[in-house]
Amino acid sequence: MTVVRNITNLALIGFMGTGKTTIGRMLASQLGYDFLDTDHWIEAAAGKSIPEIFNQAGEAHFRFLEQQVLTDLAKRQHTVIATGGGLPCYQDNLEKLRQHSYVVCLWASPETIFERVRHNTHRPLLQHPDPLSRIRELLVLREPFYRQADLLVSSDGRPSREIVQHILHEFQNRKAASG
Ligand code: S3P
Repeated sequence: MTVVRNITNLALIGFMGTGKTTIGRMLASQLGYDFLDTDHWIEAAAGKSIPEIFNQAGEAHFRFLEQQVLTDLAKRQHTVIATGGGLPCYQDNLEKLRQHSYVVCLWASPETIFERVRHNTHRPLLQHPDPLSRIRELLVLREPFYRQADLLVSSDGRPSREIVQHILHEFQNRKAASG
């Protein structure tokens, strides 16, 4: 069955450390859209940080909260959405996102991701003895989901301004084509 898409938002998906929040804020400012980060939404709703949610209730509960965000997102318009790295890889989350959003995946190599996240402690999935191997493993599992985006953009070694212009160009073309 083909699901009808009514694209009123722009969503960024992709692995941790690919720049979704930075690029998302810049896109929102250029488009005059609202900006929503799903991790921040969850932290505000739960009154806890992501590491606290993982520690106290487990990853399965965090994934459940991600599904709650998607229900809220379906009511929004003119919003740039930065999603948590795992969000499009569970349940029918990606399909739900696609119903109202043009979906852009930011991509980076495991080495670039590692360099960007190695000093962070707020990502429970990377608190691992060998984070680079963990990144590689997760990327292999997630790539089939990330590849379903409308647009795949490498953020490796490219200035944020250039990435933003590229995405804006494709987004405007898509909106023009769909009337
Ligand atoms: C996760 C990515 C994180 C956050 C949580 C789980 C993941 O978001 O949602 O730690 O499964 O990849 P960022 O991609 O914004 O770091």
